[in-house]
Amino acid sequence: MSSPTPGESPAVPPGPLARPEVETLTAYSAPLEGRRGLLRLDFNENTVGPSPQVVEAIRAIPADHYAIYPEYDGLREAVAASLGGRGLTPAHIGLFNGVDGAIHAIFHAFGAPGDRLLTTSPTFGYYTPCARMQGMVIEAIPYRLPAYDFPFEAIRAALDAPGSAKGAPRILLICNPNTPTGTRLAPERILELAAAAPQTLVVVDELYEAFTGDSVLPPLLAPGPNPDPFAVAPNLLVLRSLAKTAGLAGLRIGFAIGAPALVERVSRVCGPYDINSFAVTAALAALADQAYVDAYVAEVLRARDGLLGQLRQARVRHHAAGGNYLLLWPRRPAAAVEADLRQAGILVRSMAGKPLIDGSLRVSLGSREQMGRFWQAYRRIDGLG
Ligand SMILES: Cc1ncc(COP(=O)(O)O)c(C=O)c1O
Repeated sequence: MSSPTPGESPAVPPGPLARPEVETLTAYSAPLEGRRGLLRLDFNENTVGPSPQVVEAIRAIPADHYAIYPEYDGLREAVAASLGGRGLTPAHIGLFNGVDGAIHAIFHAFGAPGDRLLTTSPTFGYYTPCARMQGMVIEAIPYRLPAYDFPFEAIRAALDAPGSAKGAPRILLICNPNTPTGTRLAPERILELAAAAPQTLVVVDELYEAFTGDSVLPPLLAPGPNPDPFAVAPNLLVLRSLAKTAGLAGLRIGFAIGAPALVERVSRVCGPYDINSFAVTAALAALADQAYVDAYVAEVLRARDGLLGQLRQARVRHHAAGGNYLLLWPRRPAAAVEADLRQAGILVRSMAGKPLIDGSLRVSLGSREQMGRFWQAYRRIDGLG
């Protein structure tokens, strides 16, 4: 057999193949390069950076500590304490390399080939590859037009699988509020779904809850007869991150909160030191300065009100609900407007080709000053005068 000439790719890739499920996957990639120095309204990150206390805490790490594997117990305690309420213990808290790390581990621990993932569409893009790499079957129920309402009845019906040939979904994943539609679902309704499907692992991705306060935790942590707040929801996992509010996206730290038995099962597929010491130190400092996060969230909400007023006045079609982002539909093709905004130093995400929201741009919300800059550039680029 002749070897391929340089530059020519061989018909069969060199080296061993991965699992069949992995061979059919393409890596989940996001446009992350070259974003520094630009106005980043494309990933829903905190746009101003973390609390000065975080910066100080990281600077204070002695160099010899770099040589020591991280310690985690203090952070678990701090997360439990920061969530307030009664009954949460460190054993209820799973620590991950970002919420993406938690999502990956959950699928790894619970998803077997042929199992069903029940979720919504469109939603956060990382759920699908995680399900596919396990060989799961994905059932994604569309949000309901015209207002992108949560498809509650359809999800409820899809959960009711006993007797159906398909079996109960293995995982129900609800992003609340959802990205990119912002759709909000009342926490009580999520608890209702979890109670109706005890065989299904119900994962609530609450990455953006801080902007509207939608969370299943307050009802669970309210005073009740059972000392374990998750005793009534042993199949529920709640995901939280410090990426979008506290400004730690680059350090990668996320949490899964649930019944200790569930958290422990997910931890079985993780490495012993997956979260690095810088992330641990930063998270502790961020949790100790909740006032900084509260002030940032309040500023984003003020900026949101201002931009919504401008969009209404200029009669730009838009959709805004929960989260620190909104959708708007430019007059020109979304991809062209995205490119022109980039030229002007502003990053947003085109949603071209996405079900239900084709033609829109997702614009993350930052400070009033930042959204003022966005609006000026957008008006010019989309010919609003
Ligand atoms: C809904 C949702 N979940 C999870 C993530 C990942 O969060 P983290 O940065 O904590 O991994 C994102 C990031 O964009 C997200 O939008």
